[in-house]
Amino acid sequence: MRITYYGHACFGVEIASRHLLFDPFISGNPKARGLIDPSTVPADFILLTHGHEDHVLDAETIAKRTGAKIISNFEIVSWYGAKGIEGHPMNVGGSWQFPFGKVKMVSAIHSSTMPDGTTGGVPAGFVIESPEGNFYIAGDTSLTYDMKLIPLSTKLDFAILPIGDNFTMNAEDAAIAAEWVEVERVIPCHYDTFGYIEIDKTQARSAFAKRTIDLHFLNIGETIEATEL
Ligand code: NI
Ligand code: MN
Repeated sequence: MRITYYGHACFGVEIASRHLLFDPFISGNPKARGLIDPSTVPADFILLTHGHEDHVLDAETIAKRTGAKIISNFEIVSWYGAKGIEGHPMNVGGSWQFPFGKVKMVSAIHSSTMPDGTTGGVPAGFVIESPEGNFYIAGDTSLTYDMKLIPLSTKLDFAILPIGDNFTMNAEDAAIAAEWVEVERVIPCHYDTFGYIEIDKTQARSAFAKRTIDLHFLNIGETIEATEL
């Protein structure tokens, strides 16, 4: 399993030569400018945690270029369906077996409105189980006790958690989330993209270190094997 960070909350994950793309927000991200060209980002499946523009901005363009299928909640998949994009609708609590592995949609405490103001259903996180490893990508969320349900069904290898505060968990809460989902390795996201979510990386590292959890920052454009985390 190879993980590529495209900035903000956008990740590419390659499993068995299939490309999963999470929450594509590249063309509007000043921090990704000059580092990532959205017209070259591969995707077979685009997984959207919620409808906010900083998670879906490039989904339409990339889906149309690649033919990728959108995996998200019913409202978001319907919104893209009206644009002629194929999708697989899910909702919180449900799982589906895809060619790369199993996706479970899990709860997130946040909001979800599409860029045009249409309702984007409820926000979610995803738990991915695959022969190459299992991970949790939380989406935008507060710390929520529901996270404790995840390790009851899935032994995770790592988690991708927001740490930027203001709109989501901060690093202190994300470190608690990591304990609750029972991971020792976390890739952070949703920080430093704009003013409201600027963080002190040293403080973030120490919040995780206190709980003996490894916080692995990725540079925008960096690719690693999950086993190198
Ligand atoms: Ni959001
Ligand atoms: Mn966001």
